[in-house]
Amino acid sequence: MNHEPHRLAVVDLEPAKSDFLSEAIAGLSRHPRTLPCKYFYDENGAELFQKICELPEYYITRTETGILRVHAHQMAHCIGARCELIGLGTGSGTKTRILLEELEEPAVYVPVDISKEQLERSTSLFRKIFPKLEILPVCADYLEPFDLPSPSRKAARKVVYFPGSTIGNFEPPAAMTFLRRVVDLCGNDGGLLIGVDLRKDRNVLERAYNDSAGVTAQFNLNLLARANRELDANFDLRHWRHYAIYNPDEGRIEIYLISEIDQTVRIKDRQFHFHAGEKIITEYSYKHTPQGFIGLARKAGFEFVRMWTDNGHWFGVFYFTAKL
Ligand code: AVI
Repeated sequence: MNHEPHRLAVVDLEPAKSDFLSEAIAGLSRHPRTLPCKYFYDENGAELFQKICELPEYYITRTETGILRVHAHQMAHCIGARCELIGLGTGSGTKTRILLEELEEPAVYVPVDISKEQLERSTSLFRKIFPKLEILPVCADYLEPFDLPSPSRKAARKVVYFPGSTIGNFEPPAAMTFLRRVVDLCGNDGGLLIGVDLRKDRNVLERAYNDSAGVTAQFNLNLLARANRELDANFDLRHWRHYAIYNPDEGRIEIYLISEIDQTVRIKDRQFHFHAGEKIITEYSYKHTPQGFIGLARKAGFEFVRMWTDNGHWFGVFYFTAKL
């Protein structure tokens, strides 16, 4: 018997390995040094991120899912019937499933993800749960422009769903570029339902990114392990340390990898020298105020409709409509 997993028809625009190589070399040649956080999510990284989402200190996923469970019905009401739902980086799809269960006759669901494995897994699950729903997966880096597949039914409007506060991983100019692109993608009267982590006590924030089980540290270090696996690099993981701290002036968690010794690392045919204590920025995670985020979205061309939050006001799910 053939136990090969059934391959799905995925529109495949997965970024090439050469992108990782050129972006890693460019980022490490710069000062301060950087490695782009989008490369966290290979198969190993996606699994580690899944574990992060279940950690007691990482309140984000639990809080957002709780908001969805209580308010998805109202969200669906705002979105309206027969929408084309475009899910950006929806991962395992737990929150999207809650939303889809409430939506009135969605015309088509287009999940877009950078990880093909994740996309295939969640698409086959969703095809079982929603057998009548047309699902057209697209494997792409949604930070770059991409074409939408053509659904067989015409939708009343396009609505982009962007959960998880991934918008927080964009620096403000990149967040603006992204939001403008979403306005173009969903078109006039289209919608954006977006999960955004809000500002809160810095101790809560720092605990969430320095969990006691060390999973976030493993997730961060996996970026170097991935470079070793895919880019012919020789990072010695014993000499690198995860570090995360809240920067109140910028309103963001800053995540670094710190070199514990003086060392030289090779990536393909390039050498990089690191001093003891030198940092590589691997991720920023911005925490917004509701007013600040609404202002940003307005500048990009969205009109604010509603925000749903939890009792502690730790997280917001915002609905906007695009006005072209
Ligand atoms: C995906 N993103 C919203 C996560 C965050 O909280 O910024 C990524 C993450 N990095 C470390 N832990 C989680």
